[in-house]
Amino acid sequence: MKAAFYESVGPAREVLRVAELPMPEPAAGEVRVRVLWSGVNPSDVKSRAGLRSKTLPFPRIVPHSDGSGVIDAVGEGVSRTRLGERVWLWNAAWGRAHGTACEWLCLPEAQAVRLPEGVSGEAGACLGIPALTALHAVLMDGGVAGKTVLVTGGAGAVGHYAVQMASQLGAARVITTVSSDTKARVAREAGADDVVNYKTEALVQRVAELTQGQGVDRIIELDMAANAAANLEMLKPNAECVVYGSGASPMALPFYPLIVKNLQLKFFMVYHLTAADRARATATLTRLLERGALQHLIDQRLPLDQIAAAHERVESGQALGNVVLQVGPAS
Ligand SMILES: NC(=O)c1ccc[n+]([C@@H]2O[C@H](COP(=O)([O-])OP(=O)(O)OC[C@H]3O[C@@H](n4cnc5c(N)ncnc54)[C@H](OP(=O)(O)O)[C@@H]3O)[C@@H](O)[C@H]2O)c1
Repeated sequence: MKAAFYESVGPAREVLRVAELPMPEPAAGEVRVRVLWSGVNPSDVKSRAGLRSKTLPFPRIVPHSDGSGVIDAVGEGVSRTRLGERVWLWNAAWGRAHGTACEWLCLPEAQAVRLPEGVSGEAGACLGIPALTALHAVLMDGGVAGKTVLVTGGAGAVGHYAVQMASQLGAARVITTVSSDTKARVAREAGADDVVNYKTEALVQRVAELTQGQGVDRIIELDMAANAAANLEMLKPNAECVVYGSGASPMALPFYPLIVKNLQLKFFMVYHLTAADRARATATLTRLLERGALQHLIDQRLPLDQIAAAHERVESGQALGNVVLQVGPAS
């Protein structure tokens, strides 16, 4: 079967190869999935570039945690009723050597979730990281019903889902930040009540005006290092900042504003959701998908052979939404 892989970290074009690998067979408790779409996330790109570690956890890595396809074989203990099921995948390349950038992969059956009818395969390849990250950030600690929520980067892969989910799961008001008119349009179409261009407008002042000086109840943050100071000003007392990303690792956090306002900072990685949190997010996501309630923002669809270009597109920071690789016939 055809697969993309790397055996050392480095620039996409230097280390990614596409070649034949042996066909995998499912072990007990596993399903084998004929992959049709493979999603490329910043996390996959950072691992391949060696930004997390210069040494590989496995001699050869087939990248990408997200993907979608059809179950075509099951291991011992897995119901044969799953054969032929359309599925989306999560954590396929996290702590594993074999992700979705290939024609077939085997993984524990719980990591292959039924894709509701009417949801495209390319959308299925955006759910494991972007959609579940957004949804956990919205659902955690009692959710957002009645709250004013600020989503930073509302036209990003995660942010675009977060705007939709906060809006549909009861937020009183969703404010988001963008850097261009095109992104502003995308964020409004996702359901944002207010869109602020953080490059050209005075964000803190604008949010104060929009909230009559009250501030926001929750910020869903993709770059805490860049935005920490502004966030502390925009949060109400007892509010929370849910952080899922940071452009830089060290971040300056002024102690006094944090403690005086009783602010809560919450950090999480979608790879490490507890079983209960994952089950809650997956069930809610399935309901939203079944209702056809979600828009999926696809920046580029490329063939598997162009995996290096796909990685470079994600690395560029210019992608408007998700970059996906088509591995099999369209679905
Ligand atoms: N913790 C987790 O489990 C988890 C899960 C998913 C992603 N992440 C991380 O979250 C980050 C975003 O991921 P993604 O897939 O959504 O990336 P993405 O699709 O590239 O989206 C990022 C968006 O944020 C905007 N942006 C960049 N810097 C910003 C800033 N300082 N303030 C406001 N907006 C800003 C970008 O547009 P402009 O540059 O034009 O503003 C872009 O629209 C990455 O660092 C990723 O590794 C973490």
